[in-house]
Amino acid sequence: MKNIVLTGFMGTGKTEVGRELSRLLGLKIIDIDNEIEKAEGISINDIFERYGESKFREIETEMIKKISAEKNLIISTGGGVVLKEENIKMLKKNGIIVCLFATPETIFERTKYNSDRPLLKVNDPLKKIKELLEYRLPFYKKADIVIDTEGKTPSQVAEEITKEINKMA
Ligand code: S3P
Repeated sequence: MKNIVLTGFMGTGKTEVGRELSRLLGLKIIDIDNEIEKAEGISINDIFERYGESKFREIETEMIKKISAEKNLIISTGGGVVLKEENIKMLKKNGIIVCLFATPETIFERTKYNSDRPLLKVNDPLKKIKELLEYRLPFYKKADIVIDTEGKTPSQVAEEITKEINKMA
């Protein structure tokens, strides 16, 4: 089976939906950010702080190269993965790209008590979410399957994804 690759902005539920999909389909889940933290031995926050975003993006692409070669996985990606065409090309080779959407307000609510997102450590995170989301929208929309998560539980979203994938088969 092809990999199911979950993309989407921070706080759209990729990790939770990934876990549900993993349970539903009996596939292993891999989280790119977790793999980076394990391999580098430091947190994403620290990578941003010590080496900057562009170094993080290089490490991210290297990790994608490694993971996208595998099959039968649910792959949960970081919100900025779609920005590099090279990343998506690699992930598409063995995978179906799914993108999760939520409104800026919902994203803000889901992320506001969480300090592990370096890009949202600003005075006005909601404004930042709106700006980043607007810029990234065309990239997110390129996914094979686009899912609105608004008002849905992770398990409802996972079921919707499964139905869409079955339609493609
Ligand atoms: C990022 C999203 C984060 C993480 C990093 C950068 C982004 O992952 O990769 O902080 O650029 O949107 P999540 O989407 O899992 O929060």
